[in-house]
Amino acid sequence: MTEVPLDRNIALDLVRVTEAAALAASRWMGRGDKEGADGAAVDAMRLALRTVSMDGTVIIGEGEKDEAPMLYNGERIGDGSPPECDIAVDPIDGTSLTSKGRGNALAVIALSEKGSMFDPGPCVYMDKLAVGPELVGLCSIELSATENLKVVAKAKRIDIRDVTAVVLDRDRHDDLVAEIREAGARIRLIPDGDVAGAITTAWPDSGADIMFGIGGTPEGVIAAAALKGMGGELQGRLWPRNDEERSAAIAAGYDLSKVLSTDDLVAGDNCFFAATGITDGELLKGVHVSAGFVSTQSLVIRSKTGTVRLMNARHRQN
Ligand code: FBP
Repeated sequence: MTEVPLDRNIALDLVRVTEAAALAASRWMGRGDKEGADGAAVDAMRLALRTVSMDGTVIIGEGEKDEAPMLYNGERIGDGSPPECDIAVDPIDGTSLTSKGRGNALAVIALSEKGSMFDPGPCVYMDKLAVGPELVGLCSIELSATENLKVVAKAKRIDIRDVTAVVLDRDRHDDLVAEIREAGARIRLIPDGDVAGAITTAWPDSGADIMFGIGGTPEGVIAAAALKGMGGELQGRLWPRNDEERSAAIAAGYDLSKVLSTDDLVAGDNCFFAATGITDGELLKGVHVSAGFVSTQSLVIRSKTGTVRLMNARHRQN
């Protein structure tokens, strides 16, 4: 069979998928039930994915088939017609944010050509550094936070006191946070949602300059697809939590010392990203309900053209 190229903007189809997930998840906002919210988003996302013309394989999904009956790693999705492609889904990035009604929860999806997406395998966490276009090629995960902050200040021609670093609020980041404070920079500590956190570094007027720290590997791959399309960069290094994870990663052939570039995470220049806000955030508005309709706001990105669309939609309420 001849290979069919991925030459349409499939992100315009994918945005319907993230809208469906966000609409479903938003009904669970503040209900204190992470699993319920996630289940609703997964169901909605899977149903919507069936209608997309593609032969997709889930590289990053809800986990192994045994625990994840839907959107499991390796599952074939789409209507089965070409092109073949790799897919990463996160029906909710920020399940706790959603269940507590806090800001910045997103429904996200990334898609790239077959064989081009990094498979995290057993590697749950990754150390990350994310920056926007002005800083590409200048910062490095191999430099200290202080050195990187100096690079940011110089490149953006601002004082280091005016540089803002985004960091997940976790105990494992105590030293990192202390170092950033010592360097004199500002910090935006986020409770969850480092896909949105990474994207804000490339988002005009978000007030974020760089994101540092350890978060989910799947979220790193998804954010890399978005940043690639926005002209930014995400570097990562796998971060096993314990000896068991270290051994599993090494046995599976992962090099734990390797710096993973944006290209290592999503190869080539033909990837797509869509995200819809579930709750209001710095990046996107969440789902809002009015009499008779529901509104959503989404981000739709295609790397080949570098087109970034901010898409508002009104959905008739059923
Ligand atoms: P979930 O929505 O799956 O809970 O992920 C939220 C998140 O904050 C991610 O954005 C981030 O990469 C990861 O969790 C960090 O993991 P942990 O909460 O274990 O530190």
